[in-house]
Amino acid sequence: MARIDQTVIEEIKLRANIEDVISSYVQLKRAGSNYQGLCPFHSEKSPSFTVFPGTSSFYCFGCGAGGDVIHFIRRAENMDYPSAIEFLAKRVGVPITMDKREQDENARRERVLAMNKEAARFFHQKLFAPEGAEGLRYLTEVRRLPMPLIRHFGLGFAPNEFGALTNHLRKKGYTDSEMSSAFLCGISQKTGKPYDYFRNRVIFPIIDVRGDVVAFGGRVMDDSKPKYLNSSDTPAFKKSRNLFALNFARKSETETMILCEGYMDVIALHGAGFSNAVATLGTAITSEQARIFSRYAKKVVICYDADEAGQRAASKAFALLGEVGVECRILKVEDAKDPDEYIRKFGAPAFKNLLERSRSEFDFKLDKIIRDNPIVTPDGKIKALEESVRLIASFPSAAAREIYLHRIAELLNVTPDSIRRDVEKLLRNRDKKEKREEAKQMIRQSEGYGDRINPDYVKNTVAASEEETILVIMLLHPEIWTELQKSGETLTVDDFFTAFGKKVFESLEPNLSDPLFEPGMLGEVLSVEEMDRVASIRRSRSLLQQNTITVLRDSIDRLREATTRREMSIEDILNKKRQKNGN
Ligand code: GTP
Ligand code: MN
Repeated sequence: MARIDQTVIEEIKLRANIEDVISSYVQLKRAGSNYQGLCPFHSEKSPSFTVFPGTSSFYCFGCGAGGDVIHFIRRAENMDYPSAIEFLAKRVGVPITMDKREQDENARRERVLAMNKEAARFFHQKLFAPEGAEGLRYLTEVRRLPMPLIRHFGLGFAPNEFGALTNHLRKKGYTDSEMSSAFLCGISQKTGKPYDYFRNRVIFPIIDVRGDVVAFGGRVMDDSKPKYLNSSDTPAFKKSRNLFALNFARKSETETMILCEGYMDVIALHGAGFSNAVATLGTAITSEQARIFSRYAKKVVICYDADEAGQRAASKAFALLGEVGVECRILKVEDAKDPDEYIRKFGAPAFKNLLERSRSEFDFKLDKIIRDNPIVTPDGKIKALEESVRLIASFPSAAAREIYLHRIAELLNVTPDSIRRDVEKLLRNRDKKEKREEAKQMIRQSEGYGDRINPDYVKNTVAASEEETILVIMLLHPEIWTELQKSGETLTVDDFFTAFGKKVFESLEPNLSDPLFEPGMLGEVLSVEEMDRVASIRRSRSLLQQNTITVLRDSIDRLREATTRREMSIEDILNKKRQKNGN
């Protein structure tokens, strides 16, 4: 997360007059030294939303929303904490600087990227050097890649030595720990010395959309194992957020992308003119990658290997891409194990033909149903019908359902009406189930189980309330907390009863020693709703007159007592009773 320097946040809050900022959203009227208006966060007829210029805060006595000006923007603009700060910074004209930690992180990332670039250049040169002859032969003769394609992808070769790259990078001024953080070398457990991670492999550099070399894949040139080594996550790289060849594919002039399994598939496709092909980096597709697709493409053709694993993985891709609104189709290569082999065997025009005949999710799943159930027998046919009905019901569009059910009716030789009735029945039942769930939910809420922010509150109201008192004292009087610690007493997260209390304590405690601490900082960790709750707890305890260490100690004692009481088992209680009765 982008961490912004706390002094800058202070500066922004100082300059952003809270009543000015809020008046752009709410019509405020003066009420004594404060301002009042209709709450923008819940609907009300008389104003209970109050702005306190004295403490630069707001609070709604109606809905409990409250906090500082950053919190207000977070709610009003529906932004996360860093974005709300940036938004305000722009408004008041404060330039945003990153704090030390972030600067260090950036510097580390830049070093890794520079080192990767150097390594990619090194591998590429080695491919054309005498010691790379075997690599070049593998790529050109075994894999039949033309030279321009090899250059286009910057493919390379890692020599069969332990110190080729490591020595080279050391000469360029990179340290062992930098190299190992980038997964370019391992560190020998015996000698503590670094050794090249990639050896005797052809190298596939992975380049992100900015053109930076972020990682590498390395393939053996025979059948030995492991076939591929891939970089793990580094300060400059996350496997789950990158796609191989996206740097090229995003520039291709189509709204479609082709998703393959392997580097070699992608390279073969680009070589055959399909520059919109990408691959995940040796893992199944993630939801982050699905979102990347949605940014660059309207449609994705899944082009996985013909084997069982590839087809199973396709189902996951359908689900994830569907979630982000990308239209998905699937292509199955025939008489070849993967797209690479297909193109080598049959050529680019044949592949284009396959692309045009790629099938929809419905067809893909229907095929599987027909394959899995022997529809020549009555039982098989009934099973196939049941599964088809479920499949049809999974499509939200009524028109699509109508089209699909006709297809199935024809295929299984039953009337469309009977299928329609089954689909409708299924949808009705699902509806009923949802309504029942809703009703249950309402009952739970009316019983006091509806506290979403602190669901544990009702389980032990005494403990939960003491927790709140303790947290408020910590928040408003850090000096009392410091005094308690100095006296050698401890309070840990385990003392807290509710998950919410634990969370607030954990985000609060390490910050209390910060001289710049102020409660708004919790916004970095807590959600908008949680911040509101903190504000309303503060307000409800604002009349707590004596904020002394004694009050704090008493609260801690009561909290502990209330929690232990809860922990006593039935048996303990019975034992106690027996003792009392003198048995
Ligand atoms: P070839 O055609 O055999 O050269 O490889 P490919 O690119 O077609 O890859 P394949 O379909 O066999 O595997 C898909 C992807 O999974 C590869 O591109 C790699 O990223 C990854 N992968 C394959 N084998 C391994 C392995 O042994 N280890 C790791 N970590 N990843 C692998
Ligand atoms: Mn392959």
